[in-house]
Amino acid sequence: MAVDFRGHPMFPPGFNSPTRFEADVYDCEVWGKIPTDIEGNFYRMQCDFEYRPPQNEWMTGFNGDGHISRMRFSNGSVDYKGRYVKTARMKAERTARRRLFGVYRNRFTDDPSVADIDRSAANTHMYWHGGKLMVLKEDSHPWLVDPQTLDTLGSWDFNGKYTAKTMSAHPKIDPVTGEMIAYGYEAKGDLTTDIAVYTMNPKGEVIKEVWLKSPYLGIIHDIAISQKYVLIPVIARTTSLERLKSGEPMWQWDGSLPTMIGVLPRDGDAKDIRWYKGPARNTLHFLNATDRGGKLTMELPTSDGERDPSQIRRWSFDLKSKKDSFQEDVVSPTSGFLPRMDDRFLSTDYRYAFLGSRDPSVPPDVKRAPGMAAMGPFTSNVMQRLDVRTGEIKQLHVEPVQSLQENCFVPRKGAKGEGDGYVMAIASNYESMTSDLVIADAQRLDEGVIATVKLPFKLRSGTHTNWYPQSVLPPVKDELS
Ligand SMILES: [Fe+2]
Repeated sequence: MAVDFRGHPMFPPGFNSPTRFEADVYDCEVWGKIPTDIEGNFYRMQCDFEYRPPQNEWMTGFNGDGHISRMRFSNGSVDYKGRYVKTARMKAERTARRRLFGVYRNRFTDDPSVADIDRSAANTHMYWHGGKLMVLKEDSHPWLVDPQTLDTLGSWDFNGKYTAKTMSAHPKIDPVTGEMIAYGYEAKGDLTTDIAVYTMNPKGEVIKEVWLKSPYLGIIHDIAISQKYVLIPVIARTTSLERLKSGEPMWQWDGSLPTMIGVLPRDGDAKDIRWYKGPARNTLHFLNATDRGGKLTMELPTSDGERDPSQIRRWSFDLKSKKDSFQEDVVSPTSGFLPRMDDRFLSTDYRYAFLGSRDPSVPPDVKRAPGMAAMGPFTSNVMQRLDVRTGEIKQLHVEPVQSLQENCFVPRKGAKGEGDGYVMAIASNYESMTSDLVIADAQRLDEGVIATVKLPFKLRSGTHTNWYPQSVLPPVKDELS
């Protein structure tokens, strides 16, 4: 049967209809002037759909096929490349010319023919570490992709040293030691409460493995690290065998569950973890953590309940006390979707967060962009720099026909201090129905966008982004032929 997406509730006309192509654009159109001290590669992921998913896959696009884009900046010019991650799952479905994998992280809904095939859609995030570009999905092992050609190189288990079945899409790379702290939850298979935490040296070799038990089966989408600790928050979204068997969406918010935060010394073992407890908090992504003496803090966007607006808060842990609770304070009322920072300061004392947020006082221009009338409340129209010490915000509004996706901080070539560089993000342009990459000076967001890269097509809503300077990647090969 030929592919036909009509009538599927996940794909109303507009930016979220499937894209379904790979592309190269040499020397992209640029409005404005790209500073020549931006030299390197902006990577971003999206979930796309080659084949029509089951009709009850209505709640999330996070089960689409991984599609990675790379925009290489050099001397004020940008070359674009976009490729699918050719996972085992995608190959099986291409061979069958139909969807074989069922709904999000639910084997009970798969076609029996794929029971032994890696379920990874490799669609969430990418990290360069130990000479490898890993594309990540939290229910599986990483897939490797060539950082230049974006050719898929295969699944990766760190030469057999990564024994957990899963690796989250949010490992952390310590800029001081060059180590990567990676982890998996449901690490012994679906619905298990096992967590495995790994340390890889700068060469990408596993040098430490710690197995833990989660207090309950909740989502652990992200972690935070300080110089001495790994913070592992278990969030009140839970699942069960009954839920999966019924075909309901995997995760269900349960506000009666506590937020549990495991604090594991990076030089410690399973016996050294302390679990701190607080009321249910709705959050997925964290900003950063810092330890100073016996005091450990982390900042994050969170809300009290599933439908409350989020704000940036600080959780503080008094490691010298025997208390198992933590203190919560508001840093800023900004919603702060998908918080990022200058990753050169990750795990250390830092000052700036780079955020997307929504300013409701500036409505979308639905005359120029009628498609924006149907947009949800979580779309972002401002790019912000938040000073987490003082709460001061500098921000810019994008065009009222643009909706921002996750931003990424880009240090300028030769950058010195924290935040010395640029912020860039893909924006869906609902007037042209194509995607833009907007670039601003990270220290002068209030001066507006300095350059926009105009892609001649749309990209679907993305998941995560990262920036790698050309100097850390293999040499560029000629792409003219
Ligand atoms: Fe994420």
